[in-house]
Amino acid sequence: MLSAQLINSGVDLPGKVSYNRSLDSTVTLPRTHLSTPPYPEPQIAPPEVTVRWGGRIHHLKYHRGETLLDTMRRGGVWAPSNCEQGVCGTCMVRRIKGSVALRENHVLSDQDLAAGYTLACQGVPCDSVCEIELEG
Ligand code: FES
Repeated sequence: MLSAQLINSGVDLPGKVSYNRSLDSTVTLPRTHLSTPPYPEPQIAPPEVTVRWGGRIHHLKYHRGETLLDTMRRGGVWAPSNCEQGVCGTCMVRRIKGSVALRENHVLSDQDLAAGYTLACQGVPCDSVCEIELEG
């Protein structure tokens, strides 16, 4: 499920920010770069986001810079949300494949992240594949 092996390829972000990423992991962007939009965006983006929900699989075209919540809304997949600030956790989804960078995270613990959970309202896919699951 979760690959603990770090790939030190480094992802270059605009504004001279770079970070190491791991395959199949959630990466929280450095907080010092979170407060002022536009946010640094990953250089790698998947062509689509696969969403498992209600026993169905949805293949949604992904537009670079969108959050997972944006992609689901545009694709007609209902997803719960509330604060859309990374605070409440209402939009929590489980990552199945690919890495997701979080613009803000004030609710998920390291344990949650290690278990594959991420926030749809703040999560930006940063891998060549992205598959998530809506629970409930
Ligand atoms: Fe509150 Fe995403 S809607 S954390």
